[in-house]
Amino acid sequence: MLHFIDQRKRSDLNSNKNGTKTTRDILDFALADPEYAASIEELVDQMKTFFFAGHDTTAATISWALYFLHQNPTELEHLRKEHDAVFGAGTSPAEVARKFIEDPNIHIKLEFTLAVVREALRLEPPASLAKTAPKNYYVTTRSGATVHIPEGALIYTSGWMVHHNKQVWGEDADEFKPERFMHGNPIPWGYMPFGKRPRDCIGMNLAYLEVPCSFLCDLSRRKLPWHLLPVHSISSLQSNISEFCEEL
Ligand code: HEM
Repeated sequence: MLHFIDQRKRSDLNSNKNGTKTTRDILDFALADPEYAASIEELVDQMKTFFFAGHDTTAATISWALYFLHQNPTELEHLRKEHDAVFGAGTSPAEVARKFIEDPNIHIKLEFTLAVVREALRLEPPASLAKTAPKNYYVTTRSGATVHIPEGALIYTSGWMVHHNKQVWGEDADEFKPERFMHGNPIPWGYMPFGKRPRDCIGMNLAYLEVPCSFLCDLSRRKLPWHLLPVHSISSLQSNISEFCEEL
């Protein structure tokens, strides 16, 4: 990675001189910002965070949301209508990007789209919480038993189990219903796709921006060849999505 960043630093300077560079990614922005002026080691650490904490989680969220929308055509239609209402019918991805630059908070108007993302994250959270037990740590179970957790033990909380708990979400806990996150409905404490304090996810707002952006560029702007998605399992979904992307 060190070598890659060093190379990019040099090529960036050259292409800037020739004025040939037309696109910018996060590394370009970091290298170009005189106020940031990070050392190579710090840049490596930041890039690792984006790759390992931010990439797979966001990609899995997009995959699952596509899966649920494929299974629920009415919700897909609702999502497309919202995109048309906010961005205009048939707007190209380039135009969508321009509107985002003009109004960086425009995605807040996408109430249903955000509800779809939240619901996909509820049903299939891509990450969970792992914490180390402090000294004198006790957990009380639902049956009322008190269990002592040894200091230093790793405590893993399954977000998936909490997100499917009917006592928290109701009898329809296993169903895809984005509406539960709309109209100011209270979000139960048991919702934890980005973890819980004190060390919750620092990328949450970025993810809530990235996933709707990917929908805007694909779902509402293209007619998806859903026949390529005869989804029976997530593994077939993943290989079908790769096939679909190759076709585009
Ligand atoms: C849908 C996308 C994402 C999901 C579901 C997700 C989920 C999580 C979860 C469950 C945690 C653990 C929190 C805890 O232990 O309480 C976490 C931590 C973290 N996430 Fe994310 N994440 C996502 C995207 C991102 C992105 C885009 C970035 C950065 C670019 C990021 C950076 C981090 C970092 C640095 C931590 C550790 C925070 C700390 O320990 O202080 N995540 N994330």
